[in-house]
Formats: sequence, structure tokens, C-alpha cells
Amino acid sequence: MQIGPYKLANNLVLAPMAGITDRPYRQLCKQLGAGMAVSEMVSSNSLLWGSEKTLRRANHDGETEPRSVQIAGADPQLMAEAAQHNADQGAQIIDINMGCPAKKVCNVMAGSALLQHEALVKDILEAVVSAVDIPVTLKIRTGWDPSNRNGVNIARIAEQSGIQALAVHGRTRACAYRGEAEYDTIAAIKQSVSIPIIANGDIRSPEQAKHVLDYTGADGIMIGRAAQGRPWIFSIIHHYLTTGERLEDPPIQIIRDIMLGHLEELYAFYGEYIGVRVARKHISWYSKGQRDGAAFRQIVNRIDNSAQQLQVTRDFFDRLANTAEIAA
Ligand SMILES: Cc1cc2nc3c(=O)[nH]c(=O)nc-3n(C[C@H](O)[C@H](O)[C@H](O)COP(=O)(O)O)c2cc1C
Repeated sequence: MQIGPYKLANNLVLAPMAGITDRPYRQLCKQLGAGMAVSEMVSSNSLLWGSEKTLRRANHDGETEPRSVQIAGADPQLMAEAAQHNADQGAQIIDINMGCPAKKVCNVMAGSALLQHEALVKDILEAVVSAVDIPVTLKIRTGWDPSNRNGVNIARIAEQSGIQALAVHGRTRACAYRGEAEYDTIAAIKQSVSIPIIANGDIRSPEQAKHVLDYTGADGIMIGRAAQGRPWIFSIIHHYLTTGERLEDPPIQIIRDIMLGHLEELYAFYGEYIGVRVARKHISWYSKGQRDGAAFRQIVNRIDNSAQQLQVTRDFFDRLANTAEIAA
């Protein structure tokens, strides 16, 4: 898949997830097979740009290209300035969020709330595209609510405004995360425009990835929740799509090493205090479904220094590895 000058290593994209897709996690997913990873959303409110949180979000040191940064907001001029600012900070692609139903975003009439105002969508997209000389991409839902699935209209506006790729989550704003994603609207969008379309929503397995690609005709797929605690899902899907062979999850020793490396990166990126807290949710995801995982999480979630968190986590995964070896 090609986005502007960037030819992606493959057509698998890590979805932007606030509080999750920080630089360490994006880089890990890229190392484990994601062709692109979109950053956490950065507000178009310039008052926030100097905050520690926003500065950290703009940190791309050592990140594999292309570096895509998502922005959110409803004012065309402010969005244009946000795009310029992020391009100056090292973003190589600007992604616009019109897909997030979160109250925090929708209340200020941004994210997926914008989808019901097509004229404003056009103004925002044109303002951002003309403000920067790097590719601009867009992420939407299929529409405002199930009786207003205007995704095709929005896709046409996006193409006319110079958007270079469009990710579509197969739910409406009103659907939040309920029900199953539907892929018919994504297929209709693919038929209506010629820019690359990235299908998103509920893709959890290599078979589902292939089904969604075949069913929608999309150019690529985007994966969010199924990559939590399973960043290697991208290589498993890539392998399946290219060979038809279904790989299992890596052995527990490899999972342990990936996870411990991830934790070290988090401590280095956030520092001790925040690093330990951010690491907790990843440790929970990595240990989900593992034997005695619940008891382990009770203990590890109470630890508040990195050395001990690392040690207790290593011990738990070592025990799992030993049990697996004895059973083999
Ligand atoms: C915790 C969380 C945070 C999210 N944050 C964002 C965000 O900042 N921007 C955005 O466009 N979508 C956001 N999303 C939506 C995802 O990018 C994706 O569209 C959605 O999770 C559906 O894909 P999935 O079924 O593969 O998870 C978020 C989703 C989750 C679960």
C-alpha cells in the first residue's frame, strides 16, 4: 500500500488508541510486522502543545518510517495549525480523527460527531491538506447512526479534498463499540473512490483479516484491540495472507522476552513513575488467559517500582515457561 511517497512494508496498520499507541508500543508493533502505526491523538488546542503529555506524544526518536500522527478538532484553522505544528515536530503523515466516539472528543464536536456536518468536514479536510506538504489521511466511522450511514459521501469529500488514504471503522458513531462491525458500507466506500481504503473493526484473527480484505476489496486493514498484549498478531496475519499457513502464537519464552523488552522501553520513555503505571495495563493484557494470570495480576498491579515489577513479571513467565517445557 502506498500513502503519498511512502510505500508501506505491508498493508497492516496498528489503529490509533489513546493511552496505548505510544512510541514504544508503535515501534514494537512495527518490529513485529505492522506496516504502519498511527500515533495517539494530539489535540488541535495549541494551549496543550507545551504540556508534558503532548510533547511526549510528539516524540518519534528512533521510530520506523512513516511516522503518522493523528490530530482531532473541529475548527479548520486550528486543525491546519495543528497539522503544521506536528509536521514541524517530525510527523510524516497527518491523520485526522473523525472516528472516535469518546465523549471527551464528541462533546467539543470533533471525532465522529463531525460526520453529520459534511460541509464542515470538507472545510477541515481542505484546510489541513493545504496547510502541509506531507500526506494527510482520514479515519472515520461508517456514519453518524445506523439510519445515517453517510460514509460514502464523506469518502467522496475526502478524495476531492486531497486525502491520500481513508481508514473506516465498520460501526456508526451511535454504535459506540456495541454489536459486530459491518463491512458492507466499507465495501461500498471502496467502490466509490480510488484512494486507498483501510478496513477496521473487530479483526482478531488471520482468517478474519482475509475475509475482510476479500469482502470489502479494501487495500489494507487496521487492527486495534486484538493487538493489545499480542503485538505479534501482525506477523501472524502477514504470514497467513502471504502463504495461507496459520502460525500459532510464539512460545511463552519468546512472549516473555518481547514483553520484558517492552517494559524496559516504557520505563525509558516515561520514566519510573508513569512507566510503571502504563506498564500495568500491558502486563495485564500479556498475561490474559495464562494459567494463574488473575492471581499474578493481583500482585503485580500493587507494585510501584520498575525493578520489582520487572522481576515479578519475569518470575511469572519463567514459571509458565518451565511448566510448558515439563508438559512438552
Ligand atoms: C482504548 C481505545 C482508544 C482509542 N483511541 C482512538 C483514538 O485516539 N483515535 C481514533 O481514531 N480511534 C481510537 N480508537 C478506535 C480504534 O482506533 C479502532 O477504530 C477501534 O478500536 C476498532 O478497531 P478494533 O476492533 O480493531 O479494536 C480507540 C479504541 C480504543 C479501544
